[in-house]
Formats: sequence, C-alpha cells, structure tokens
Amino acid sequence: MSAHGTPIPMMSEAAGPLTGTADVPGDKSISHRSLILGAMAVGETRISGLLEGQDVLDTAKAMQAFGADVENLGDGNWRVHGVGVGGFAEPGNVIDCGNSGTGVRLIMGAMATCPITATFTGDASLNKRPMARVTDPLALFGTQAVGREGGRLPMTIVGAKDPVPVRYTVPVPSAQVKSAVLLAGLNAPGQTVVIEKEATRDHTERMLAGFGATITVEDTDEGRVITLTGQPELVPQTIVVPRDPSSAAFPVCAALIVPGSDVLVPNIGLNPTRAGLFETLREMGADLTYENPREEGGEPVADLRAKFSPDLKGIEVPPERAASMIDEYPVLSVVAAFAEGQTVMRGVKELRVKESDRIEAMATGLRANGIEVEDGEDWWIVTGRGHGKVPGGATVETHLDHRIAMSFLCLGMASDAPVTLDDGQPIATSFPIFEPLMTTLGARIRRV
Ligand code: S3P
Repeated sequence: MSAHGTPIPMMSEAAGPLTGTADVPGDKSISHRSLILGAMAVGETRISGLLEGQDVLDTAKAMQAFGADVENLGDGNWRVHGVGVGGFAEPGNVIDCGNSGTGVRLIMGAMATCPITATFTGDASLNKRPMARVTDPLALFGTQAVGREGGRLPMTIVGAKDPVPVRYTVPVPSAQVKSAVLLAGLNAPGQTVVIEKEATRDHTERMLAGFGATITVEDTDEGRVITLTGQPELVPQTIVVPRDPSSAAFPVCAALIVPGSDVLVPNIGLNPTRAGLFETLREMGADLTYENPREEGGEPVADLRAKFSPDLKGIEVPPERAASMIDEYPVLSVVAAFAEGQTVMRGVKELRVKESDRIEAMATGLRANGIEVEDGEDWWIVTGRGHGKVPGGATVETHLDHRIAMSFLCLGMASDAPVTLDDGQPIATSFPIFEPLMTTLGARIRRV
C-alpha cells in the first residue's frame, strides 16, 4: 500500500448467501520469511504461492536493496538468489517497509549482525509502532539503533562488526521479536538462545531448520527455549507457501453470519500456533468443519467448510490462546456481534500496538454500528445481539489497518444497514484479491 495513496471508501451491504470456494492467498508470515531466508542462503531459492500483497512486495524490494537477486517469475512464483549469512550489502537508500511490522522487524534482525548501516521507514501506521522491542535485544549483539522519540521509525541501524551471541527472554508474546533475534543470531558465532514464555507462531524455527541451520526447541519450566547455532551456511530451498489462515478467517467468519451460506476454503494451514480462531469459533457453536485433514511440508492442513450458524453463543476466549489467534480478534469481534451473549477477550494487550490500536478501532466502529463493547488496557467484551439484530449503518475509520477494513466489510454483509469504510486501500497489504473473491462468493461490496 502506498503511504500517501488516495483513500478508497468502500461499502458492504447484505446480499444473498455466500457460496462456493474461496481460494485465499499465500501466508503472509511465511512469505516474508521465504524471501528473507532465501536472501540469506547461498544460491537459488524457488518460492511458489508467495503472497503478492504490498507488505511482502516491500520485503522483496528490501532484499534487493541488501544485495540479493530477487525475480518475480509470474503466477506467485519467485526466485531469490541469496548472498549468504553475513553477506548483506549496504543499501544505497532508505528502506521503506510500507505498512509492515513483520517486514521491518525481521529485516532489522537479519542485517543487525552485518557490518553495514541501513535506515528504515514506513507509512504513517508503521512509523507509530514500537521498535525498541526489537532494537533492545539487538543491542545485546552489539548493534546500534537511532530512531525517533519512543523508538519509532524512521530509524538507522548500525550492524555489529563483531557480533556476540545472546541469550534473551522475549518480554512480550511476539513472533516478530523472537524472529528478529534468531535472524541476528545467524551471523553471531556460537549459540544464540531465545526463550519465550508463551508459544508464538513458529515459522522462523521451522524454516531455519528447513534451510539447514542447527536449531533446537525445548519446552521447559522457563518456557520454550530455542537454541540456534550461529554462522551456518543456509542451503537454498524450494518453498511452497501454504495459504494464510489469517486471510481464511474472513470468508469463514462471513459465511457463519450470512444466512444460507456454505463456503469451502481449501488448503489452509492449521499449525497450532496459528489456528486458535477456528477452535474458538467451534466453541461458539459455529458450523465449521475440517475436511480432508492431511499433512503438507510438515504442517497440518485441511479444507475448511463454513456454513451459516444461527445459534452462535458468546464465550470467554481462553487468554492462553491469544498468541495463536492474535490477528483474528477483529473479525472474531464481528462474529461475536451476531452471537447471543458476551464474548470476553482477555490478555490481548498486544492488540493495541498492531497496524492500529485494534481494540480501540473495533470498539469504536462496533459501537457506531449498534453493538455494545466494553474495553480496558488488555481486555474487551462484545455483547452480541444475535442474528438479524445488528443495526450497522455507520461509517468506520480503518486507521491504515487491513484487518479493521476487512472485518467491517464482513459486518456489513450481515447487518441490517450497510457499513461504510473511510478507506479500504490497506486491504491490499495482505489480501489484494479480497474484494473480487468475496464478490464471487456473493457479497455486495462497492466503492463509494
Ligand atoms: C507476525 C507476528 C505477529 C502478527 C503479525 C505477523 C509474524 O506480530 O501480529 O501479523 O509474521 O511474525 P507480533 O510478533 O507483534 O505478535
């Protein structure tokens, strides 16, 4: 997404049922990591099914700026000729990561132990987000960082010339912080140890092992202890990017709330560190089934079938599940609006530092559309009105946040009156085909 593009106001209104097959794009987390690890391997990595959303395209551009040869071969197929661990060249210009926290934080980690300097920036959303959570552990390797007040972008990172390995306990549940430290650890001699108290998405660990790094993961009383041996030669891979469960969440949730719907969402990765939403929806009474469960590339995969679910009930979402569904709370709160009773979401402080303050953005927009929401620093409660009783009718602000935009478009598909967005442009960061795909299923989305 362009940081300065013209806003695209959009409206969604109730139409017929949603039916058919939703082929959602490749996984965003795995797409970023494929490009970055491909750039750190020696030789040619081939990627198919890459998400060609703006966030990932910005990471591809960044990898070129650091000296990797990155080529789009068409149809989601990409080729990355990597420069090896420690082989990044100094970029000739500022690295613009657009809207992507994952892009900027992982790339900062990947360059932090190379003897080069790079300056990072992003759009108005990214430039508000905290970077000290990454630059603090990177300083332990000997990396220096100078940014704006409060550790915000734009920020210059001076890579460590003689990096030392670190042992670091991640203070917040964040796969981005964990991954930044692991990627920095790649070019430090000896063993870098990262400890996380709560398990977060583990794509970096799995993919590092796939690229030939020596990495172990142990569950201990301290938490998950990840030990990486530095300075490996990463071996190029052929990667098939699975489809994104976080994108699948939108057609799944829309089908549950639009009367008469029956939608198949094939080939969705159900890695337990990502699949918390689907478990939660089933506990709420959703008619959501996993068809054809199988294993692909070492990950559990299934075809999801979601049908209109008239008897949804609010539940208390177990806080320990938060990390496995952190990006899905906005769309869960939309489903909660159509459930009977309260949906209680606790232990979700991290939602306040995403592309927007997601509790604030969703609570404000839901209230404007006739739903009662209470919220505090790390919790929120949505009081559902049940099917056919959600008024809608308001215009909401999306705050440069793709998931806020898509969540409210889903709300409008089942509310009494249409729901309007001030700007649907951010959707292109993660799900560029959202509008045509949902329209093909039967949704009525218009640009206004
Ligand atoms: C991501 C980690 C999560 C998630 C983001 C993608 C990743 O962020 O919200 O969309 O790919 O590592 P945090 O690490 O900030 O929780």
